Amino acid sequence: MCGIVAYTGPKKAYPILIKGLQRLEYRGYDSAGVALLNGDIRVYKRKGKVSELEDFAKDKNLSGSVGIGHTRWATHGKPDNINAHPHQSGDGNIVLVHNGIIENYAVLKEALSENGHTFKSETDTEVLVHLIEEIQNQYNNLPLEEVVRVALTKVIGAYAIVVIDKKDPDKIIAARRQSPLVIGIGEDEYYIASDATPIVEHTKHVVYLGDGEIASVEPKKELQIKTIDENETQIPAIQELDMKIEQLEKGGYDYFMLKEIHEQPKSIADCMRGRISAEDGWVLLGGVEEQAKKFAEAERIIIASCGTSWHAGLIAEYLIEDLARLPVEVEYASELRYRNPIITDKDIVLAISQSGETADTLAALQIAKEKGALIYGIVNAVGSSIARMTDAGSYIHAGPEIGVASTKAFTGQVTLLTLMALSLAKKRGTITDEYFQKLLVEIEKIPGKVEQVMKLNEQIEYIAGEIQHANNALYLGRGYNFPIALEGALKLKEISYIHAEGYPAAEMKHGPIALIDENMPVVVICTNKSAYEKIISNVQEVKARKGMVIAIVTEGDKEIKKIADYTIEIPDTEEPLTPLLSVIPLQLLSYHIAVMRECNVDQPRNLAKSVTVE
Ligand code: F6R
Repeated sequence: MCGIVAYTGPKKAYPILIKGLQRLEYRGYDSAGVALLNGDIRVYKRKGKVSELEDFAKDKNLSGSVGIGHTRWATHGKPDNINAHPHQSGDGNIVLVHNGIIENYAVLKEALSENGHTFKSETDTEVLVHLIEEIQNQYNNLPLEEVVRVALTKVIGAYAIVVIDKKDPDKIIAARRQSPLVIGIGEDEYYIASDATPIVEHTKHVVYLGDGEIASVEPKKELQIKTIDENETQIPAIQELDMKIEQLEKGGYDYFMLKEIHEQPKSIADCMRGRISAEDGWVLLGGVEEQAKKFAEAERIIIASCGTSWHAGLIAEYLIEDLARLPVEVEYASELRYRNPIITDKDIVLAISQSGETADTLAALQIAKEKGALIYGIVNAVGSSIARMTDAGSYIHAGPEIGVASTKAFTGQVTLLTLMALSLAKKRGTITDEYFQKLLVEIEKIPGKVEQVMKLNEQIEYIAGEIQHANNALYLGRGYNFPIALEGALKLKEISYIHAEGYPAAEMKHGPIALIDENMPVVVICTNKSAYEKIISNVQEVKARKGMVIAIVTEGDKEIKKIADYTIEIPDTEEPLTPLLSVIPLQLLSYHIAVMRECNVDQPRNLAKSVTVE
């Protein structure tokens, strides 16, 4: 959601900004713009893709070694050339890009209007740049960083901003509250971006700007950081980026999503590396060990997350309650944060997040922290806000996920949560040694089995062709596979725009069964051992109403094959591990349908990869 990139140094800024904006495209946006400073300030912005901005700017003056760029995901004001960022002060000297929402912008706008400011756009961002101009006019000779800081003390809301000023031409000011910003430190140059993807090809040395901090960068000068509210100097913590440029390229695949689906045997193995040994009979998560006392005393685990990560949380509820016999509650972070929840210091609150930047999840964690719970992050993006605010945590090590539809991060989350359930079960003595060992052996085989599922690609593509014109689809599953039904439906709707519902199979007769006719594809996940007979009955119920059944079954299944229209056979495994296999055909199915419907698989309309506003 919104992307920021900025550069100051000896190089030409424009190519760095454009490349950076392309790297940030995956976050989701609907317009793009840049501002270049070279004596004068030039702002170029366009509704649509970064390529449209490039086309528009190609015969313009692109000189300047200081510049800021932005991809905008519209919140206040429609996506158009005027509302696109950057925004300029009334005198045109100060230029700003912004990610987030200024909540008190209407009040500020009114006060500024009374002081003679006029506005061109409908955005909250333009109000902020006028506020900075107003402060600059009020306090003559204040350095830019101080002007911006004072302005920000008057702002309520979430933001990441970068600001340049014609009167202070080499300097860039960056500040953040709740929205992320990373500063790359090169040789006599600085890069600033919403995440590390535009920076990694230039430098590996980065500083993650802390919440409520403001930085000032200028070539050949030390990075300066202060807190916005207290005006206290902070010592920058320089970190080494652990990211490779190849991870940000498609590597021969048509889409990032397809690449990421195929990466899963490796990403699942990476998630387990060093954390489990079936041979020696142990499973160990550093974060859980660090907080062993808290986990031992915990009376409940509360999971806060959104979207696909919430589905991973639902699987965790099955896993942790089933194996470790510890009560689990799974909450939409967006609901938890506003519903006066009962959370105590005996609770552990798990935040599951790919990006580590989801605004609702961050806010829910803040509440949990205030109520004294231990907060634990299960995160993919290293150094992200959630990773930094939690008391302990485990990275899933899936590598950068660029496709908006989450795939490898989901299986990474489920793998990690399975390891956590096993580790807690062992500590709590709620699992027999035999079953524990069996699950260790089986989970180590999962990467190989996922590889086997990939071989079904052609069959899945064929089925996709049969249902690509459907307007609706139903996904059914039970037990461990109920959340997979939800996830399969979400994958289909987000990238192919087909309306899909996920349901616990037995709930179908309480409503959704009314929808079933010969035009309704019904995807049923039937790998469960415990509820197998019951699922057969559910499939019969669909067939009796002429629904088309696509069944995900265990290799060698005979019963469901007799009644389903299509069966996709996946390798056998222990029941708690089936989600890691059953989700793969559903990812491939939605991918192929989206390609057939000529949808933009990696950047579906209206969606953002990092949902940094609530
Ligand atoms: C769907 C998807 C989203 C995210 C959700 C939470 O494919 O990716 O539903 O799962 O926006 O994002 P994170 O995991 O970054 O907190």
